[in-house]
Amino acid sequence: MCGIVGILGKNPVAPLLVDALKRLEYRGYDSAGIATLENGQLIRLRAEGKLVSLKNKLTKRSLHGTIGIGHTRWATHGAPIKRNAHPHMTEKLAIVHNGIIENFLELRTALQHKGYILETDTDTEVIAYLITDTLYTGKTPLEAVQYSLSRLKGAFTFALMFAGEEDLLIAARRGPPLAVGYGEGEMYLGSDATAFASFTNKVSYLEDGDLAVLTRNSVTLFDENAKQVRRHKKKSAGGILLISKGNYRHFMQKEMFEQPESVSHTLARYLDCARSVLRPQKVDWSAVTRLSFASCGTAYYSTLIAKYWFESLAGLTVENDVASEFRYRNPPLSAGTLPLFVSQSGETADTLASLRYCKKKGMKTGAIVNAVESSIMREADIVFPTLAGPEISVASTKTFTSQLAVLASLAVAAGKTRGVIDKKREDALIGALIEIPRYISEVLKLEPSIESLCREFLRANHMLYIGRGTSYPIALEGALKLKELSYLHAEGYAAGELKHGPIALIDEKIPIIVIAPYDHWFEKTVSNVREAAARGGRIVLITDKRGAVATALIAQATIMMPEVPDIVAPIVYAIPVQLIAYHTAVLLGTDVDQPRNLAKSVTVE
Ligand code: AGP
Repeated sequence: MCGIVGILGKNPVAPLLVDALKRLEYRGYDSAGIATLENGQLIRLRAEGKLVSLKNKLTKRSLHGTIGIGHTRWATHGAPIKRNAHPHMTEKLAIVHNGIIENFLELRTALQHKGYILETDTDTEVIAYLITDTLYTGKTPLEAVQYSLSRLKGAFTFALMFAGEEDLLIAARRGPPLAVGYGEGEMYLGSDATAFASFTNKVSYLEDGDLAVLTRNSVTLFDENAKQVRRHKKKSAGGILLISKGNYRHFMQKEMFEQPESVSHTLARYLDCARSVLRPQKVDWSAVTRLSFASCGTAYYSTLIAKYWFESLAGLTVENDVASEFRYRNPPLSAGTLPLFVSQSGETADTLASLRYCKKKGMKTGAIVNAVESSIMREADIVFPTLAGPEISVASTKTFTSQLAVLASLAVAAGKTRGVIDKKREDALIGALIEIPRYISEVLKLEPSIESLCREFLRANHMLYIGRGTSYPIALEGALKLKELSYLHAEGYAAGELKHGPIALIDEKIPIIVIAPYDHWFEKTVSNVREAAARGGRIVLITDKRGAVATALIAQATIMMPEVPDIVAPIVYAIPVQLIAYHTAVLLGTDVDQPRNLAKSVTVE
């Protein structure tokens, strides 16, 4: 995740900005930069790679300004090079930004038509020029930001500093968290309170939609309707806690809401999103004849979805195993097989042992891993990083959607190399993948209605999740999430399997969550849903507009999803099942981030 900091100080702020950025390092980043004002002039320093490169630059060129902003960038739009590093600047302002501007292409074109020359691949620069353009019309910085916000779509947060304004920082939150720190004649901004923990522990978190105007002696906050508001000021534990939850209730909630950005970051590694093309591959897919996946838990479900993709898009034979079975089965491994291991932690004992088994058999192995420098990452021959950033909550959420983003991109690449999909289909698939962050942002807005729906699950002893095709593994994932977080009993089934046993469980007390995008499995799923409804089951349908129309009479509740292309449906439909598990658990009062008996990294058999 990108990290934002801002300081209105009494002394030169450059070293303090670097210190604050250092505290945000845990979020992951690939370039960094700071900007200050000297005699009203904007000055910046940026560097690729780790903060040490920026520090080295600072030893050669010291900055004296007492106001500044800083950023650690986790690339989403454009490569992690200096040109794309923040702060971005125009004649009038400097900006640091976290999140995604969904309509940036449209705005970029409009700005270019007005004669602005945009030099980076980022969506951030578009915000900078949009506000600058408004400033040229004579508006004040606050008016210009308010007006520009109304034109931006997406989930994002930014902080701004203006040329000639030595006592002004403006920040806005439309998604990712932002904290304000209160000092004595000094003020701070940070992606979380950890950033400024060594300067102050007095903090308030912006609510979603807030805008903050900071001077050295005041903080004025406005809500999304531009109404002046107050936000609770509290003492932060940022000095002790290295990673903070911001104003989310749990790490899991924070991580679910990070998904538009985390998936975007993942996709940027595998696709050149600006040109809508695949990036070069580490695997020669024409030499692969069979894929053999071995993983555990949620990571295993990601491979079940991948099976549909690799079979249909690339014509590859795919085998899926839970790693604890694979490692002891003595599976034969033919030439042409690529064993692939998916793991968030990269330390899961069974997955690691399966990888070592394959290596011992002389196979070239691949791994899709999140934790950098983990054993699986170090030992696999080919590594596909998921790049979702640190995941603290025991429940996998953002790492699951990032695993899926990697697998989908690889399946498209395999299909292309193997000549199974033509150029037109490839373009359509890539176009669909690029849209995932936008769909996820849209679905996250359903949180309040999903939360109230969860109240009725509290009376249930059992729940069923069903789906067909790529929605079947999402049903399994939904049931796993509910079990591990709320301790309610839940099972996931292929909808067509219901009548072969589980239908006996159905009575009027059992909620049945149906994952049913309006895809080519939809009609079949609906037939199974009718069978369940006829036996009194309480049907909760997760579907889109067309699906809802077709099932109006059988569903007691519907979670209305955006209409999405087939390839992205499992990634987008993962969000409501995460939200259901989370809110049911919160209502039941369980320990959401650290459920009983579970560990984040399972290093035992
Ligand atoms: C998911 O919410 C789980 N906590 C669990 O199933 C997890 O996915 C599994 O233990 C595998 O972990 P890994 O991805 O770190 O290998």
